[in-house]
Formats: sequence, structure tokens, C-alpha cells
Amino acid sequence: MTGISINQKESYSQLISITRMNSHYKINFFWILLLFSSVLFACKTEDAVIPIPKPDTIVPPDTTGLRKVSPFPFGAALSIDLLKTKAIYRSTVIKEFNSLTPENVMKMKNISLGRGQYKWDDADYLVSFAQQNAMRVHGHALVWYKSTPDWVTNFAGTKEDWKLILHEYIVAVVGRYKGKISSWDVLNEAIMDDGTFRDCVWLQHIGIEYIDLCFQYAREADPNVLLFYNEYGTEYSSAKRTAVNKLVADLKGRSVPIDGIGLQMHTSISRANSDIQNAIAVAAQTGLKIHISEFDIKVNPDKLQDIIFNATLAAAQKEKYRITVKALLDLPASQRYGFTFWGVCDTNSWIPAEYGCPDWPLPFDSNYKRKDAYSGLLEGLK
Ligand code: XIL
Repeated sequence: MTGISINQKESYSQLISITRMNSHYKINFFWILLLFSSVLFACKTEDAVIPIPKPDTIVPPDTTGLRKVSPFPFGAALSIDLLKTKAIYRSTVIKEFNSLTPENVMKMKNISLGRGQYKWDDADYLVSFAQQNAMRVHGHALVWYKSTPDWVTNFAGTKEDWKLILHEYIVAVVGRYKGKISSWDVLNEAIMDDGTFRDCVWLQHIGIEYIDLCFQYAREADPNVLLFYNEYGTEYSSAKRTAVNKLVADLKGRSVPIDGIGLQMHTSISRANSDIQNAIAVAAQTGLKIHISEFDIKVNPDKLQDIIFNATLAAAQKEKYRITVKALLDLPASQRYGFTFWGVCDTNSWIPAEYGCPDWPLPFDSNYKRKDAYSGLLEGLK
């Protein structure tokens, strides 16, 4: 039989179309396979990021948190342990803040275990948490004399060797979070209260050029991240205030990259309003972005052991909160980088342990209720 019957024709054309479909599926299958293998490949080449648990509390859509009401970002220094374990801590952070600073996990001692050895997991966790909750991350701090790991302190080498280890470390850390972190405290507390440069291993082994190198290496690793010099005490030391501005002018004059100044503002109810306002206004004269980077207001500056937090202290604290926020608000919008608390609620502040006395420095009480200080923030934003 030479001819093809109608039935045969039909089944032939069915066969062709099935074959076409199959090849179509094959092509689709090919692309799916390619996609799948590239995902697998991507997972293999980067260290796996620790999965973030779902937020423990649903954030109400009509949130009145600081992140909603402020024209500049509000943030807090976060403890990785509390974030992972305490539901109310997480939900308060998610509701109130759109910026976070790692309180400890990105410090050199915690992240750099040895030359070329890093502990990324906690820092990765914070970065993922921030991404999931539309928060910016402010990295803290690449170089801080108080967080120098033993392997660095004990390192033996020439000046060039010291530059090399500084370079390796900064490029590794900034490079890992390139595009994921908005800004870094590149150098923390490098100036003494009397305005002289603080002694540290980097100064001893590299010389004052170490300051330029920190900023240059950070810029090399991420051309877009904002680079900050972070300092405390400019509200009480005019020598330090002058020295910070002089350092910035010098760096800018030699085209060393710097974008902002972090004013820690660990201060107290006994600090005059004008000191706080002046510190902010003077730093802003540099034209750089200003970050109130570690804000807390002690109500027990005399370190009394039997003090209780009463309405008078609360009112005094509220006033410091109000005038500080207002001073930042008064700057040109392009210079207001943000306002960050050093902790979330009074029970997780570093102050009582650091000063060995009770204190209540933060905007939330031990039950995560908004304090009078919080109302001070809202009044300052008006
Ligand atoms: C503090 C942390 O809050 C503490 O948990 C840690 O034990 C020591 O460091 N200035 C800074 C911060 O730049 O990194 C410090 O943080 C507080 C002072």
C-alpha cells in the first residue's frame, strides 16, 4: 500500500505535532535545567545565607512607627541574639525602624578570625533581615582601636605587610556586602578628646597614612557605599570638634573619599542643649552627611546605685531627645543621614554594664512601651 489513508494522515500529523510539542517541551526543559543549574551554581559560589524566620508579629498596616513619620531614616544598633530570639524585640524593630546598625557582629574582632578567615554568619543574618524588612544597613565599624583581633595585634611584618593585611581585610568585608550595605563607619574613634590622633596598631605600623588607606580601600571595594568617620564626645570637647573637621577638610582636600560624619551622641540629661546643637551644626559645616549614629541619653550620669526612673528624669530625657532630633531636622535634607539609637529598649542598652549603674537611656522601656523620650522625638520632628 503506497497511499496514506486519512486516518493515517491524521495520525501522521498528530505525530508531527506531538514531536513538535516534545521538542518544544525539550527546549523548555532545557531552559528550566539551565536556570536550575545556575541557581545551584550561584548557591555554591556564595556562602549560604542563614534563613530568616518569618516576623513573629504582623506589623499593622496603619503603623505609626518612626520609620513612617520621619523624613530621614531612624534606626537602632541591633543585637543578633535578641533579634533571633525575642519576638517583641523583632516586632518593635520592624515597626519603628528603617535603618539598622549591627551593634557588634561586624566589628573586626567578631568578623575577622585570622588572616583570610572570616565569620560571616551573624552579619549575613542581619543583612538578610534588613533586606526582608526594607531597612538600610549601616556597617559598623571597619577600624576601631577597641576591636583589634589578637592575630592583628601580634602580627609581625614591615609597613608594607601591614598595609597588605589592612587592604585584605577591608576589601573582603566591604566587598562581601557590596550593594547590600548603604554605608560604613570606616574609622571609629581615631581622635582623642584633646584633638590629637589616638594611638593604635595601625598608626604604629603604617603611620598616619593609615587613615587615608582605610577610606581608599573601602572605596576600592565598593564605589557606591557611603563612607563615614564616626566619633564620640564632640558635644563636650571643642578640641575634638575642631580636630574632626580638620581631618575631614584634609581628607577632602587630598581627594580621599569621605561622605559623612557619625556623631555617636552617648550623652546625658546634664549635657547643655547648646552643646548638642553646636556639635551637630559644626560637623555640618563640612558639608558632609550627618548621622546621629549611637544615640542614648543617660539619666544617671552620677552613677547612683539607688536611683529610680521618675517623671522628672523622664521629662529631662524627653527634652534632650526633642532638641537633638530638631537639630538634625534643621540641616539641609541632603545632609540628614539618619538617627540611630544604641539599642532598642532600656533593658538592652549597653550603658548599665559599661558604667556599672542603673540607667534608662533609650526610647522604649523594659516592656518595649514608648517612653516620654519617644514623644520628644515626635515633637522634635514637627
Ligand atoms: C559597644 C557595644 O554596645 C557593647 O555591646 C560592646 O561590648 C562594646 O561596644 N562606641 C561604639 C560602639 O562605637 O561600637 C560601642 O558598642 C559603644 C561605644
